[in-house]
Amino acid sequence: MQHVVEASQVVKTFVKKRPVNELVRHPFRRAERVRALRGVDLRVRAGEIFGLLGPNGAGKTTLLKILSCLVLPDSGRAVIGGEDTVHEGRVKPKIGLVHSDERSFYWRLSGRENLRFFSHLYDVPRRKMGARIDELLRRVGMLEDADRRFADYSSGMKQRLAVARALLHDPPILLMDEPTRSLDPASAMSLRSFVREELNGRDGKTVLLATHNLHEAETLCDRVAILVRGKIRRIGTVDEVRRWDVDERRFRLEVDRWPPGFRGPCRVLSEEEGEGLRRVTIALDRDGRLDGVLRALLDSGSAVHACDRIEPDLEEAFSRILEEETEAEATP
Ligand SMILES: Nc1ncnc2c1ncn2[C@@H]1O[C@H](COP(=O)(O)OP(=O)(O)OP(=O)(O)O)[C@@H](O)[C@H]1O
Ligand SMILES: [Mg+2]
Repeated sequence: MQHVVEASQVVKTFVKKRPVNELVRHPFRRAERVRALRGVDLRVRAGEIFGLLGPNGAGKTTLLKILSCLVLPDSGRAVIGGEDTVHEGRVKPKIGLVHSDERSFYWRLSGRENLRFFSHLYDVPRRKMGARIDELLRRVGMLEDADRRFADYSSGMKQRLAVARALLHDPPILLMDEPTRSLDPASAMSLRSFVREELNGRDGKTVLLATHNLHEAETLCDRVAILVRGKIRRIGTVDEVRRWDVDERRFRLEVDRWPPGFRGPCRVLSEEEGEGLRRVTIALDRDGRLDGVLRALLDSGSAVHACDRIEPDLEEAFSRILEEETEAEATP
């Protein structure tokens, strides 16, 4: 399997800027350091959509900046399409970066003028420029507003223009930093399907995106990594990460009554009453079988109306990792 994005043991420490008044009061005090990435290993395969998840400050943006040559790592290596990111000139044509910093656009220029300006920076051939810009504006749904000033755009429009800008030089790899952050639910959904169906499905682009939105990761990504405090804690397909360390099997049953003192091979996780039925969520005992539970229920005179398997979700996996982190921090 060909890997088009590779990070090996990437380490990055920032020195926190100190306010001037503090510098004056304590000129010799050492500046505080922030370890943003503490040895990150990551491989993204050609043609996949890969999600980078993690809480605030986990290091997602820093990693994307390193991969797009905006920041140099202190140590370790980042390689894009076979080129080390120290060779900026060779890496830049391969990547398109969609980041959430609107300041990188020219606010007094229109959307179209901005794209024209960036086309020059990305070496888009002059004779193709007009058609390319029009095509991208149409694809991101901005053709009608293309000649309005960037400053007058809504956050969602600015974000769509950022996607168009990243595609100007038709890069095979897209790095997206929280691409749906400022979008309303309908626009977020439409951007996700644009990424999945057109950019990835039709054009075959590899996408690495950072997101806080676990639902987005579940619906969009082939594989995900969970980054916490500069370290990757889980990596795999969404299903693998969801089921990581979860060996219990859970079911939601709808029964007309739950027998008091029920002794089936399971434990009850939650119970609720609704529409004349009891909805009971159970976890099977380690060696327990579902038919054992159902038989015990039927023998006790209950009628079973429905039984669904419940898969653990990413949110649960995420909370578990954060709990482990908190426990590790508390342990001396
Ligand atoms: N230029 C910088 N100078 C100092 N510290 C920085 C700088 N950039 C990032 N950091 C610190 O590095 C850590 C990782 O930041 P980063 O922005 O990569 O996190 P993130 O996962 O993208 O967070 P968020 O979800 O909030 O966007 C944070 O503690 C942040 O304060
Ligand atoms: Mg970030």
